[in-house]
Amino acid sequence: MDVQALESQALSAIAATSDPHELEAVRVRFLGRKSELKQALRGIRDRETGMTLNALRDRLEAAFDERAQGLEREARARAAEADTLDVTLPGDAPPRGHLHLLTQIRREVEDVFLGLGYAVVDGAEVEDTWHLFDALNMPPQHITRSPLHTLYLNGDVVLRTETSASQIRVMEVQSPPVYIVSPGRVYRRETADATHASIFHQVEGLAVDRGITLADLKGTLLYTARALFGEDREIRFSTDFFPFTEPSVGVAVSCFICNGTGCAICKQTGWIEMAGSGLVDPNVLRNVGYDPEEVSGFAFGLGLERIAILRHGVPDIRMFLENDLRFLRQF
Ligand code: DAH
Repeated sequence: MDVQALESQALSAIAATSDPHELEAVRVRFLGRKSELKQALRGIRDRETGMTLNALRDRLEAAFDERAQGLEREARARAAEADTLDVTLPGDAPPRGHLHLLTQIRREVEDVFLGLGYAVVDGAEVEDTWHLFDALNMPPQHITRSPLHTLYLNGDVVLRTETSASQIRVMEVQSPPVYIVSPGRVYRRETADATHASIFHQVEGLAVDRGITLADLKGTLLYTARALFGEDREIRFSTDFFPFTEPSVGVAVSCFICNGTGCAICKQTGWIEMAGSGLVDPNVLRNVGYDPEEVSGFAFGLGLERIAILRHGVPDIRMFLENDLRFLRQF
């Protein structure tokens, strides 16, 4: 057999391979059991031929190993190339939520009062009847205290029906002057419909100091109305009644849709109800150990849903708690 011809044939076949499978096929062809070389090795008679053929086999085996390593290197290089990460490409932005409309409005109201020097305080959603009713000057037979209106948890433990209990909580632990707002959730036993929900939100306000008058209340609420509904707003006081204020006033803001000329939102009156308020009843001050001869105060309550409904024309109060993204994403 022609050793040189076989060797150059094998080396060029090895060089022409482009993957491990091809290389293996070429190896079988030149070094397999039935290959010309293996058969010749089996029939060796003299030492000289033996040395020549063994040397050839060693050289071919080395050539195969080297090619196998070369192929692996090439494969790795190709994979690395295909895998390149371009760190300059923009990334995939993770989907990001935003604050609930009521949270946005709550923060807006908080900001108005923080700007006036008020503190924002949390109340308790689970209250007792002393803080929610008695201390707020509600007589035992007051209709709100009925289990038909208030959710009783256990004995005198209830879910608060209004944030007004925060007034008592604050005054119990702080001496005057007091300037606070207290936002939060309230619970009422209601049959839900477009304008009633068992869960909604209020912001309670309370200012107690020496010499506080109705004029202070009016100035504060006018400022608030303008901050929330626009610089051109006016407010109007009317008589009302709440057990914890004397006198009590209903507060309306001039309609921000029609500017007071009359439209569907203000029911042709030009005015929109905005808050309940009044001067803190002396009994309430006494209930927390304040002296009504020394200090006086005003209080008010705003509904957060109401602000959102008026501003955005939300048709149904239940939408605030349904968590339907088609609704929430609009704000
Ligand atoms: N708590 C009243 C309600 O839920 C709102 C309210 C009225 C709060 C007058 C006050 C107030 O602080 O002075 O309807």
